[in-house]
Amino acid sequence: MKSYQLHSADDRHAVFAQLSPRIWLENDLLRAWVVTDPEVILRIFRSPLAVVSSLTDVLKAIRENYGTELPNVAYACGVLPLLVADEAHPAARKGFATFLAARLSELDAELADLSKACLAPLGRKGHVDLVSEVVDPFIHRVFSVFLQCDLPPEFLSMHVGDILSFNTNLARLKNLEGRIAKTLAFLRETTPNDDDIAWKFTCLVFGLDSLAMMLTEGIVAALRDDPVGSAGTRLPIFPIETGVPVTFRRAKADFDMDGCAFKAGDLIRLQLQSFGYSRAAEHSKFIFGAGMHSCVGKQLSLRIWESFKRDFDALDLRARMANYQLMPSHFIILHKLVEVEVQ
Ligand code: HEM
Repeated sequence: MKSYQLHSADDRHAVFAQLSPRIWLENDLLRAWVVTDPEVILRIFRSPLAVVSSLTDVLKAIRENYGTELPNVAYACGVLPLLVADEAHPAARKGFATFLAARLSELDAELADLSKACLAPLGRKGHVDLVSEVVDPFIHRVFSVFLQCDLPPEFLSMHVGDILSFNTNLARLKNLEGRIAKTLAFLRETTPNDDDIAWKFTCLVFGLDSLAMMLTEGIVAALRDDPVGSAGTRLPIFPIETGVPVTFRRAKADFDMDGCAFKAGDLIRLQLQSFGYSRAAEHSKFIFGAGMHSCVGKQLSLRIWESFKRDFDALDLRARMANYQLMPSHFIILHKLVEVEVQ
């Protein structure tokens, strides 16, 4: 199995358990590491020698070599907490956390009714598509609260979070540039304040696909682990299936870790599902990352999970997976159709 298939493999829980070695050099020429050992991922998260890649340098190389400008991707590099550097980073985290806390208190007022209403299709016998009938309507409402206006339905498939895959392919970056341009045009039309435009954009990049994946895969995993029996299916108290299965770092200098010699410039692919699947209970919380870039949306995501779990468990669901189709992605799970048959 290729490393970029690991995160979406059907039997990945078992695949992760059997991996040996748990760190390997994927590509000798371009020097890309894959790390699946939770303890080593934590050390990399906390190491000053492993840094977030600079997309700004990629944009500079594209401008110099092809004369192509990507102004909307450049805007993203200047506002997204994972991409801004130095002293701008804590300021971006703080500003975004304040914005998000205000949205969470607005969402809190309607969360219980919302999760109940969106899960209602699973209360009736027959076939239900988890994507279009349950998770998409839920995400649509949650992001309408974040954006303080009705979210255009096409934003559910805009995937501006692709910027976090650090893909350097020019055609893909041009495509991403177009999607970010559409997103920003809408945000600028509906939002008077520049800071709020940046925070709403940050919500869409980090939160939309990750929340959809966490909720959908959470239900899929629960149904797979619990084939129709006499007791209803339950979701775990803490999410095991993460919404961010992969993230990346680059070695800033040569360093040795766990017997591996990382060289300056090496790409490091961190497979974060290792935390949810680890036997050590203390690892589970790190599905939200660690160190200076740990997730700003953790509290909000857990609040949403808690509400979703309560209403899902109350359904006492007896169901089986009937059809499961994904869209291709090398770093996240994007669902096309997830049909379950409720008994
Ligand atoms: C749904 C489950 C979610 C999971 C599992 C998750 C996980 C993560 C992880 C692992 C990171 C660290 C990435 C890295 O270090 O490379 C991260 C960063 C981040 N997350 Fe989340 N996230 C989730 C949802 C959200 C939501 C809903 C939001 C906001 C609406 C959000 C906002 C952020 C931000 C802004 C960062 C970057 C922080 C920084 O660079 O300082 N996340 N998340």
